[in-house]
Amino acid sequence: MPLETGHMRRLVELDKATLHSSLCDPVLDSINFLNEVMDRYPRAISFAPGAPNTRFLDDLDVSAAISRYRTYLIDEKGLSETQVNRHLYQYGPSRGLINELVANTLQNDQGIKVAPESIVITVGCQEAILLALRALFASPTDLLAATNPCFSGMVGAARLLDVNIVPIDETDAGIDCDRLVEACRNARAVGNKVKALYVAPDFANPSGSMLDLETRERLLAVAAQESVLLLEDNAYAFTSPHNLALPTLKALDRCARVIYLGTFAKVCLPGARVGFVVADQAVRDSSGRPRLLADELAALKSMVTVNTSPVSQAIIAGMLLEHGCSLTSLSEEKNALYQRNLRLLLEALNRHLAPESGFPYRVSWNTPRGGFFVRLRLPVEVDNKLLQISADEYGVLWTPMRHFHLDASGNDYLRLSCSYLSPEHIEDGIRRLALFLRDPRVRPAPVSQGGVDARAVEA
Ligand SMILES: Cc1ncc(COP(=O)(O)O)c(C=O)c1O
Repeated sequence: MPLETGHMRRLVELDKATLHSSLCDPVLDSINFLNEVMDRYPRAISFAPGAPNTRFLDDLDVSAAISRYRTYLIDEKGLSETQVNRHLYQYGPSRGLINELVANTLQNDQGIKVAPESIVITVGCQEAILLALRALFASPTDLLAATNPCFSGMVGAARLLDVNIVPIDETDAGIDCDRLVEACRNARAVGNKVKALYVAPDFANPSGSMLDLETRERLLAVAAQESVLLLEDNAYAFTSPHNLALPTLKALDRCARVIYLGTFAKVCLPGARVGFVVADQAVRDSSGRPRLLADELAALKSMVTVNTSPVSQAIIAGMLLEHGCSLTSLSEEKNALYQRNLRLLLEALNRHLAPESGFPYRVSWNTPRGGFFVRLRLPVEVDNKLLQISADEYGVLWTPMRHFHLDASGNDYLRLSCSYLSPEHIEDGIRRLALFLRDPRVRPAPVSQGGVDARAVEA
């Protein structure tokens, strides 16, 4: 029998410095911090989460959606009850089960024509991001260009995979294409290569910015010229006013330059954790067998999550079938609610913070036409300390934008999300925010002329 020594009984303790560096990355810390603040102040009005409005979750009938898909499999695909049970309750193909329905949806809503084989159904858009990065980034000299500010899910995934990011600043047109060209050239000059650009052309998280049509076309041209793939994230396009909707990059793409990242989290339900990636790029290998990038992503997925839950896929499939494979139809009510919430948020900001409202100094914000997010610029540094005061003393939460910036340029911005709140909470929340912004620890020292501080800021 082995001797039990004090040494053997000591509990194992790991030194964080010996674990993967991403665990010490501020992007992971910031998400933890925000979750903690939300948990600590459950009664605060929160403009922090980009989650869908719970009203739609209360109305959901998940069993009806699964039944709808079962009926489709039996009536239209000729499966027996036993086969349907295997289909839904067994392990499934890594590529997914509902690819054909997703392909039909892309065609119906956006005129994107892709074969079901070019699609991989993933565990949320987050897995699609992770798989795409893992497949594309082969060496430390491969760089990811990303819009700055950037969705933290993309930054976090890049950190997990040791992918280096080059920030490309957002502009009023959505993205600085000249800066992208410059970044590609700078990278080449030192033996690196910008392999892909991450961009969310429709109401990006966190800025709410949108690429106009000319910029979309220019971006495709620049990407072709510089041999850069485009990773297009389409999470919020469904919130667009119908008369303003623009074609996605993938719809404009004629040469498989765009890898399209989709999610059903915002349109259907986040709890199903279903997203997808369209990867119709041809891949050459030494055997000469024709393959698609989607085949490679499915192979990677088989070693990550094996397959996306068939039950979850059935829920999404049922919802798509119920709406004739159209997210536009499926999201009609949601589109109206998010449009209304965004309008109410912008109106409340005007009412409480515009110079005409008597607010004592200038605060500026952008006015997106869709999406969940508005960006507010303050004349002071916006950090976790300020958020703590706001939560503790004013009962209102928001997100410091510095968490999303790839450099120090976002230190004076905060993000407000309107998706989650009722009209009453939006009004009360902005009223509280205005009180908080009058707090002497936030407002600039008055060097006032004519009642309004001279130290005005503009976005
Ligand atoms: C820009 C962006 N992409 C994708 C997603 C959705 O990811 P998932 O499908 O993993 O929930 C989000 C959710 O917050 C997002 O903001």
